[in-house]
Amino acid sequence: MADDADTALTTRPTAPVLRPPQTEDGAALWHMTKDSEVLDLNSSYYYLLWCRDFADTTVIAEIDGEPAGFVTGYLRPDAPTTLMVWQVAVTEAARGHGLASRMLDELVARTSAEALETTITDDNAASQRLFASLAERFGADHQITPLITAEMYPDGHDTEYLHRISPLAQ
Ligand SMILES: CC(C)(COP(=O)(O)OP(=O)(O)OC[C@H]1O[C@@H](n2cnc3c(N)ncnc32)[C@H](O)[C@@H]1OP(=O)(O)O)[C@@H](O)C(=O)NCCC(=O)NCCS
Repeated sequence: MADDADTALTTRPTAPVLRPPQTEDGAALWHMTKDSEVLDLNSSYYYLLWCRDFADTTVIAEIDGEPAGFVTGYLRPDAPTTLMVWQVAVTEAARGHGLASRMLDELVARTSAEALETTITDDNAASQRLFASLAERFGADHQITPLITAEMYPDGHDTEYLHRISPLAQ
């Protein structure tokens, strides 16, 4: 008969594995983006090519070998110590356990970024809290300014506000 310790071992949730993606992981990123029903869905080709060319600034998380989340980002060509975070998603089952925060921290550490930028629309409270929380962890300034405003879009879109968080002391 299993004692308490055995039961704890078998029921403990598996820790997520975080790693840079391989090209083939682009399919999982596409699915997670589609399933989020919140993020702008780019073409599947885009995610596959992204995983080939921006693997160093991208994280995929797996739990028990299954995709559980991802962060895509890049170092800005004209400001290479600034990590621009493009999309963050965590599968519904894996939400609420700090996975998005862990993936962001992993990317900041991996890139040794001194500043992080992302854009967020007014209606995305979860994303706003995610990045406010990161600023608090790093004790960094958090500036918010409009970047891509509604009238700039050719196809109708809410204003994307630039969130700039710096400095990120390592
Ligand atoms: C946003 C998202 C990535 C958060 O993933 P997660 O792993 O659950 O986030 P974490 O557990 O790391 O939470 C980080 C912080 O955000 C807060 N948060 C998470 N979801 C929230 C929600 N729905 N509403 C308000 N705050 C929320 C957490 O409480 C936490 O705050 P704390 O550090 O002060 O405790 C996930 O909900 C998601 O994939 N949503 C759909 C896609 C999306 O909106 N992506 C972001 C835009 S790029």
